Amino acid sequence: MTDPKQKPRRILVTSALPYANGAIHLGHLVEYIQTDIWVRFQRMQGHEVHYVGADDTHGTPVMLRADAEGITPEQLIEHVWKEHDRDFRNFSVGFDNFYSTNKPENEALCAEIYGKLKDAGLIATRSVEQFYDPVKAMFLPDRYIKGECPKCGAKDQYGDSCEVCGATYAPTDLKNPYSTVSGAKPERRQSEHYFFKLSDPRCEAFLREFTQKSGALQPEAANKMKEWLGEPGDSKLSDWDISRDAPYFGFAIPGTDGKKFFYVWLDAPVGYFGSFIHHVRSKGMDEKLLQDFLRPGGDTELVHFIGKDILYFHALFWPAMLQHAGFRTPTRIFAHGFLTVNGEKMSKSRGTFITAGSYIEQGLNPEWLRYYYAAKLNPTMEDIDLNLEDFVARVNSDLVGKYVNIASRAATFLAKYFENKLCESTNNITTEHVSAAWSVEIEDEVARAYENREYGRAIRSIMAFADKTNQYFDSNKPWELAKSGTDSDMKRLHWICSETISAFYRLTIFLKPVLPQLAKKAEKFLNTPSLEWADLENRPVEIGKYEHLMTRVEPKQIEALVAANRESLKPAAKPAAAKTTEKTVETATETSTISIDDFSKIDLRVARIANAEHVEGADKLLRLTLDVGALGSKQVFAGIKSAYDPEALKGRLTVMVANLAPRKMKFGMSEGMVLAASGETPGLYILSPDSGAQPGMRIK
Ligand code: MSP
Ligand code: ZN
Repeated sequence: MTDPKQKPRRILVTSALPYANGAIHLGHLVEYIQTDIWVRFQRMQGHEVHYVGADDTHGTPVMLRADAEGITPEQLIEHVWKEHDRDFRNFSVGFDNFYSTNKPENEALCAEIYGKLKDAGLIATRSVEQFYDPVKAMFLPDRYIKGECPKCGAKDQYGDSCEVCGATYAPTDLKNPYSTVSGAKPERRQSEHYFFKLSDPRCEAFLREFTQKSGALQPEAANKMKEWLGEPGDSKLSDWDISRDAPYFGFAIPGTDGKKFFYVWLDAPVGYFGSFIHHVRSKGMDEKLLQDFLRPGGDTELVHFIGKDILYFHALFWPAMLQHAGFRTPTRIFAHGFLTVNGEKMSKSRGTFITAGSYIEQGLNPEWLRYYYAAKLNPTMEDIDLNLEDFVARVNSDLVGKYVNIASRAATFLAKYFENKLCESTNNITTEHVSAAWSVEIEDEVARAYENREYGRAIRSIMAFADKTNQYFDSNKPWELAKSGTDSDMKRLHWICSETISAFYRLTIFLKPVLPQLAKKAEKFLNTPSLEWADLENRPVEIGKYEHLMTRVEPKQIEALVAANRESLKPAAKPAAAKTTEKTVETATETSTISIDDFSKIDLRVARIANAEHVEGADKLLRLTLDVGALGSKQVFAGIKSAYDPEALKGRLTVMVANLAPRKMKFGMSEGMVLAASGETPGLYILSPDSGAQPGMRIK
């Protein structure tokens, strides 16, 4: 199938743009790792691939969260961008450009697309009634409205369904509704909105053709679209509301005096192109690439990787927009399923809502996860499960036990008897000794599986080859040949080890899209420049010193990872949680300086936790009794329940602010504060002094 003589393909690849209001987690990584593997595979085939992404920055959640944190949306975006960029680098997700949607390239494209749609008569306006928060003076998406269930009266329910009785209803049915942003009673207000006329016969005709075009969508996705589109002549497509009223964090719609903004989902996919333009221009590449990849008529491919939840936007709105605005349309849209952990939805309380940052912080190897996901991925929209026990078993048995083992065993003999050199393949040896497991079919099978995103299948073939290689090595009993030491046995030994290392070389090529860092180490060991798919025809000449290639996963590491991700005090990434009362996230913005006098106003003391206990009715607090030496005993309520078992705190030394004004709380007086560290990722850590410090000592 992948014919090396074929003209190189030219492919622009994207992954969905992560929202700029939360951390990258293991669910996101299913997609970014899946895409990255495909990109690396295509590059190894010699194709021209551009892989771009960006943060999706606009919309109400970002605006409200920045507001709650007392920073500008731009500051929030910049901070989150740095974290996302770091996470992608750590997991070897190799974007050529990771950009942001709030950039001039994107704004210009949105204006162009909107202008063309308007000229084509595909924009309409009409009045829409929406919730309005009179205190915040803004229209609010439904998910910012809560109230009492119209059926059972349960309090604090969202506008779509009741968590207590399970009833479903419309937001307008809620009794005593309130805005979760200000607490105010929301009003219903009319305002004029702009619509993209998807119901126009031109859009309908185009979408019927586009969604059923062979190869554009997976079969299941194409079927879903058929359902969504309904019968010809009886289209179910309704016009798409693309505007939001000020105040809104987004791009102003041209010609509306700054009163109307593009809804975030209009400019988000355009951000793929914005990122590509920036990629081309910032690197001084040929401007012709923009024509080739973004305009119709060329022979380039546009491939989007997305989750199944955003299929509607990518398979309907986005192609229809492009088609009628003079741009090229997607060649293929690949939708994947959702990640579950141990068979269940990721959960903060179970500690399975695991962030990319915490995975790295806990010292786990990102390639373990890349491998596990690859082993699980298939081209359907089925969910995939990260079973943590299976993860440990699989990585250890496949990568360490099978693949890495091959190199270490054969290298020992090559180093000891043959100066690390492989024998010539013309070695005068009968074919029965040459039964290494290689066959051309494996190569085809693996390449086809990668191309079709059947990574699980690719991994099965690769591991079957690794098994055969290990069997080949064992069945020839190299240790006996070495012991015998006769000329012919040594020749045979040399041959067997050379064949085994050649198999390892091929396995490295096969695994390289999944394990780029491990492959780099293996390339060094094999004394070869960066391996390409075409190198399957070659073999190494002389190996380097064998150095440990990969360590095993310890079950303890997984336990620590889950513990670190158990719900902590950190505000949830969910937009609806962006209430002003939430503890705000520390942001990496500059802080002004203080004088030493200012600092010395804070009375910091070493304190011994004499007692720690749960507080009835408080889900975040522990009651601490602190022994502060000469200052006596103080009671402090600390929001550390999620991170510490009270028993484990008793007797520990920590640091407190002793002169904080006492505060009357629902549960009693709090006479100070203990210090704890926390960051963007879950986890909370109280401070401890070095041993020798005594309760009551001053910290200065
Ligand atoms: N910002 C939009 C996408 C705009 S694309 C023009 C968005 N962002 S997201 O952060 O919620 O998700 C980014 C991608 O990660 C989506 O494709 C989404 O399906 C995927 N995933 C998010 N959570 C996921 C899992 N738990 N499992 C698998 N994929 C998940 O949607
Ligand atoms: Zn109810």
